[in-house]
This record gives sequence, structure tokens and C-alpha cells, in this order.
Amino acid sequence: MLAKTPPLGWNSWNTFAENITEDLLMETADAMISSGLKDAGYEYVVIDDCWSLRQRGADGRLIADPEKFPHGMKYLADYIHSKGLKFGMYSCAGTRTCAGYPSSFEYELVDAQTFAGFGVDFLKYDFCNKPRHADGPLLYHRMSLALKASGREILFSACNWGSDHVETWIRSTGAHMYRSTGDIFDNFQSMSDIARSRIDKLAYSAPGCFDDIDMLVCGMRNKGNVAAGGMRDEEYLFHFALWCVMQSPLMIGCDIRDMDAATKATLLNKELLRINQDVEARPAFPFNCGRRDHPEREFLGFKHLADNEFLLFGFNFNDKARDCFVEFYDIGLPAGCALRLRDIMTGAEVPAAKDYMRLQLPAHGFQIYRGKLITL
Ligand code: GLA
Repeated sequence: MLAKTPPLGWNSWNTFAENITEDLLMETADAMISSGLKDAGYEYVVIDDCWSLRQRGADGRLIADPEKFPHGMKYLADYIHSKGLKFGMYSCAGTRTCAGYPSSFEYELVDAQTFAGFGVDFLKYDFCNKPRHADGPLLYHRMSLALKASGREILFSACNWGSDHVETWIRSTGAHMYRSTGDIFDNFQSMSDIARSRIDKLAYSAPGCFDDIDMLVCGMRNKGNVAAGGMRDEEYLFHFALWCVMQSPLMIGCDIRDMDAATKATLLNKELLRINQDVEARPAFPFNCGRRDHPEREFLGFKHLADNEFLLFGFNFNDKARDCFVEFYDIGLPAGCALRLRDIMTGAEVPAAKDYMRLQLPAHGFQIYRGKLITL
């Protein structure tokens, strides 16, 4: 089964857009190894839009741009596979991709065969330029079946930005992850708007088919295609932690050939990755910070994990610090129960907490405790 846990990898779009080349992809594969990302579980190296020629060949097939990819896609796939990594590519359900290149509407079968022939392990499938008469869900089902018929195991990454209430039908198409929002930009507002729009829909996201709240902008530092002001280190860490708690696929968007220490520490944080990869993939049981008039300004929850463990967490989207008292009756704890907790960022153990506890959340900050229930 594919996507038992959220898929992890890198995608070219956020930083490079149309500036993609064979050298860039090979260097990125090398950097996945040398930086420790592969050892941490990141495995897919994905080329986004703008990889093909502007016209199909005489046989109707998509052709890799020979200036960008002089040895062709199979060569690149072989290189990526030789490093123990997996190779991802991109097409679109409409007549042209979002950047105007030919895409797979009514070419599903031949394109799936082309991708399988390249040695592709992952296909991102966008939604631009869909003919008005065509039914969106059916187009995703068509490509999913074409990929299955290709004879190669290919993870299907749907990208219709949440249209048609995607979470209610996408699992039925066989897709393994689904973009549920518009595109992310590199600033705190864009990142938090995207995440907050999906908090109440996470119950649909589960093993086999995960809600994808878009590629990470951690470490982009206002450079590249989705530059929009950038974030501070603590905000990039907040972004990563939020994607982990929401169990989104993690597709890195920065230039990993050139990562600073803070970015590496964020993307390789073992405790956060362990949360992201938790096999139960349950949504959080929510509670609030006492001010019921602004519940959307914090994301507070109790999240069950595998092996009878859980998280107690708070994310603060406000520009001001928030002090939240978690009343244990609000999270359903019966009298006589207490929590044994460890702050996952500092490692500090909290003495058995009972009745209530305090979450001190800095502006644009978070706290995550991992723990077990105990009977007093
Ligand atoms: C859409 C998608 C992006 C990216 C671009 C490529 O906007 O949402 O993630 O794939 O198309 O053109």
C-alpha cells in the first residue's frame, strides 16, 4: 500500500518554477543524501511544471525539453533511483498545465504509459485549463486508472486546490494525497490561512490518502518563485510543526543544496517527523483557550497517537503571546486521571499534570507535549 503515512520529499516549484534542469535535479538528489534528509525519511524528488516541450511529438507523446534535460527523463530517473530515492513528475487534468505546457486531458492513458516508461514513482496532477464540460472528479479517476494500468506503482498526488469538496470524493478515485488549498506563499499570513482553512476537515485525511496543505516554504528566506516577504526562523519552525501535527505530506520547497543550519534543524527535527509519520493519523480533539469569540486565532488540540500516546498542543496565530489554561474537563479527562507529559521541543518532563495546565504560547509560537494518561 502506498502512502501508509504522509509522503515526504522535495518539489521544484516553490523555488525554481520554470528554471529546472537535469543538473539541478541531480544535485538535489545528491543533497538529499548529504544533508541527511533521505535518512530522515524524505524520499521523493519531484519535478513540477515546465519540464516538457510546448508541443507533443508526432506520436502524441509528451517530450522532455532537451535543453533542460539533455539525457532525457529515464536517465534522470535512473540516477535518482541509484541513490535509493524515488522520482516524481507533473501533469494536469486540463488541456494545458498551469504554466501553459501540454497536459493530459484525453491523453491520460498515453501519458501514464510515458511516465511509467520514464521510471516515474509519483505523479502530481494539477487542475488548470479544465474544459468546462468535463467533470473534475471523473478526470482524477481517469488518470488514477491510467496510472494503475501502466504496470508501474505510481503514487498519485491530486492537486485541484480543494475544488468540488475534494475531501469527500478523492479517496474513491484511488489518489494517495490531495492538495486542498490554493498556492502557498513565503510569509506567515499565507501559511497560516492555508492551515486554518483545513483544521475542521482533517477527519477525511487518513492512511492511503492524505490532505496536502501544500509544499513547505521553510528555509526559502524570501528567495525564489513564491517569495512574498519570508519568515523568521521561529515562524518556519511553527510552519513545519503545524504541517507535522496536521499530518500533511511534507514536500520541501527550498533549495536543499544550500540550506542553513536553522533550516536543516527544522526539516530534520526527529520528534516532529515522528508525529507526522504516526501510523494512526487521527485528527485532533479540539479545545479552546477560553475566549470563545476568537477560536480561529489558536489551534489547540488533544491528538491520539499510536501505542496509547497522545499530543497536547497549542499553536498561536496571533501577533501577541497567549496564555491558555487547559481545563481538563474540556478535554474529557475523568477525575482521578492525570497526564504525564514531555515538551517535545525542549525534552523537559512535566510533573504529573492534573485538573488543568497552562500553555504559554508566544506570538506566532507553539507548544507540543507528548504523553500518556496515568491513573492517580
Ligand atoms: C498550480 C499548483 C502549483 C504548481 C503550479 C505549476 O498553481 O497549485 O503547486 O504546480 O500550478 O504551474
